[in-house]
Amino acid sequence: MVIVNVSRMSITQSLRELISHCALQANEARILLAHLLEKHYQLPRSALLSRDDMHLNEQAFEEWGSLVSRRISGEPIAYILGKKGFHNIELQVGPGVLIPRPETELLVEIALAEITKLNKPTKVLDLGTGSGTIALSIASAAPYASVIATDQSAEALSIARQNGEILNLGDQVQFLQGSWYEAIDQKSHFDVIISNPPYIVDQDPHLSQGDLRFEPASALTDFGNGLSCLQEIISNADRFLKPGGLIAVEHGFDQSKAVVDLMKIVGLLDIQVHLDLAGHCRAASGRKIP
Ligand SMILES: C[S@@+](CC[C@H](N)C(=O)[O-])C[C@H]1O[C@@H](n2cnc3c(N)ncnc32)[C@H](O)[C@@H]1O
Repeated sequence: MVIVNVSRMSITQSLRELISHCALQANEARILLAHLLEKHYQLPRSALLSRDDMHLNEQAFEEWGSLVSRRISGEPIAYILGKKGFHNIELQVGPGVLIPRPETELLVEIALAEITKLNKPTKVLDLGTGSGTIALSIASAAPYASVIATDQSAEALSIARQNGEILNLGDQVQFLQGSWYEAIDQKSHFDVIISNPPYIVDQDPHLSQGDLRFEPASALTDFGNGLSCLQEIISNADRFLKPGGLIAVEHGFDQSKAVVDLMKIVGLLDIQVHLDLAGHCRAASGRKIP
């Protein structure tokens, strides 16, 4: 734990001064202060501007020091706050689950476009759901979709179920534990299968840097060449898709060709590559023969 040099931070300082004297970047200091304003004073984030001459009470100031220390130690902001916004919902997160990434919203959009096109009650399978990220976003935006979400991690599923209850989507999303398709009824068929599996190569130096150091390794890497989970998910999709059904997976920016090849090998049709907002090939989709 890094001890924050509090000599530059004092309880006599206003919100404005706390931000400017903070060792963190101003945008991160603002996020943490906004959290404290909401928690201790039920004030909205806009109070950082409208009441920037305000002072924190003793309890809030003590917590401010602790939050700043945790962030300086490298702990991800989402774990410090215990929540992360994703697509149209807010998810509770903790060290047992991957922090939802903005690029994963692409998979949600692909699924929602398919659900809209089908225009009927739709069955969706989310493999490796983590905090319930994709499953709950789809359920929230498409009330006529029923979603099964699986994960092998009991800790992740516990957080996902909690999120389902908080978002009041418990009836629409069923969470099951097991490895990929093993968790589900082997006779079930889906209109859409979605997955953001671990796809980072085990030797990737990013695993020991930044936020990734704090996230579960089993959510990030397959402890191999990065393609083994994708291969297992794609090669078994045919058994669990309805005729004409769609599978879409997220992958690394440099894995597009390998993933498209995997889809071709198993005979999927209408294979498409999808770009994220940074312009990287980030997802691939294909269809079972109608
Ligand atoms: C990259 S994370 C994605 C989490 C979530 N879907 C998201 O996008 O935020 C991969 C997830 O797959 C889960 N996972 C890893 N291996 C698995 C397996 N063999 N079977 C099922 N889930 C697995 C991990 O526990 C983790 O929650």
